[in-house]
Amino acid sequence: MYVEICKRSAEALPEHLFPNLPRHLNNSMPLITTQDRIFELQPGETLLEGLERTGHEVEYQCRSGYCGSCRLKLLAGNVSYPQYPLAFVGPNEVLPCCCKVEGDIAVAAVTRRREPDLFDEDLFD
Ligand code: FES
Repeated sequence: MYVEICKRSAEALPEHLFPNLPRHLNNSMPLITTQDRIFELQPGETLLEGLERTGHEVEYQCRSGYCGSCRLKLLAGNVSYPQYPLAFVGPNEVLPCCCKVEGDIAVAAVTRRREPDLFDEDLFD
């Protein structure tokens, strides 16, 4: 339901106020809702690759289900695992590097925040 509400909202919101929302939804690809964005997964793309492409901050190491570094909270929807991962996956958790997204989902991921650079400003002006 959360995903459906976001999907309908994305289509209704004015583009000039929400430029990052997908406008031309390809209904054959899963819609991914995060805490900052909504985007469609591309064909052949893993959830981890989709999150990286759209500027999300996701940790990873093995990218194949061994380490569990990429673990995220699954807020809505379902995923499956073509090969069951060695890393522990708790209830309502997902390993975006190796899961198969089954329809629209929502995950607790945020986009990268730009850290302030101390050298951006000339301190001696
Ligand atoms: S990056 Fe190691 S389990 Fe996903």
